[in-house]
Amino acid sequence: MDRNLALEMVRVTEAAALASARWLGKGDANAADGAAVNAMRTVFNAVEFDGTVVIGEGERDEAPMLYIGEKVGTGNPPQVDIALDPLECTNSVAYARPNALAVVAIGKHGHFLHAPDTYMEKIAVSEKARDAIDMTQSACVNCRNIADALGISLENMTVVILDRERHKSLIDEVRSCGCRIQLIADGDVSAAIATALPDTGVDVLMGTGGAPEGVLAAAALRCVGGVMQARLKPRNDLEIQRARKMGVTDINRIFTEKELAQGDDIMFAATGVTNGDLLKGVQFKPGGALTHSIVMRARTKTVRFLETHHSFANKPAFDQF
Ligand code: FBP
Repeated sequence: MDRNLALEMVRVTEAAALASARWLGKGDANAADGAAVNAMRTVFNAVEFDGTVVIGEGERDEAPMLYIGEKVGTGNPPQVDIALDPLECTNSVAYARPNALAVVAIGKHGHFLHAPDTYMEKIAVSEKARDAIDMTQSACVNCRNIADALGISLENMTVVILDRERHKSLIDEVRSCGCRIQLIADGDVSAAIATALPDTGVDVLMGTGGAPEGVLAAAALRCVGGVMQARLKPRNDLEIQRARKMGVTDINRIFTEKELAQGDDIMFAATGVTNGDLLKGVQFKPGGALTHSIVMRARTKTVRFLETHHSFANKPAFDQF
């Protein structure tokens, strides 16, 4: 796959981030999400490729745009599958909280798990701890093995967990074995990526978040050289049926990052909407804006951080989303 497609994907995430950032702190999560979706789709359609959304805003009957199965791009080769979240952490934009991102991953046809819109239990760590994680074991056993592999004490290891009622016993268990916990209101995609990057202060992501976010995180980890195990956590029979319809035969199967996002032709781009551990958010300036993005490829493991200055006078479309 042409490596320049990765830079095209950054243009897409920048547009979505700029559009949704206009809704920062306005208390309207739907408007922020809608703006991101609209901008992302507009810019996608100018890209020279034949894209199919496989992880998107939902199924066709529930999402007017960027729904699963929607075709984007000019329709000319190459043919790629797309996993996207125009606005990961909608509430973080609505209430000016951290870690909101616009995210796109692309891969060869059939290379992303078709994950239904349900939950997924996840453990993510850096490559150094690849052999230390095992979802069939308790959280404490995992923490001990990860700390050994990273060469740090449990007391100095930071585990990020979504601050949710469902995680009460997980939080108790992880604290009881001595680790630090960083509770986050939202945003397990950026937390998963942070485990694999140096100097983020994040060692492990544990707990249950969105399944589509799990596939996006796996795509990013394939590029940055991180590790993940994940298992679908459907809430009811309907979600189990949906997962089966999308091709998941064993609902209890533990997936690795290489199974969630397969092959080496994975590219990942994200732009910060609000400030976070991974990226700074959009900063509007007189006549323009500044965005911060990450773009990376699994084949080469090149990780680029991009600071982009947008001039609305010269790019009026970016001022109108
Ligand atoms: P949204 O942008 O869809 O709100 O996702 C934010 C998020 O925090 C994800 O990072 C996470 O995977 C998921 O929500 C967890 O779901 P829930 O808020 O239902 O616990």
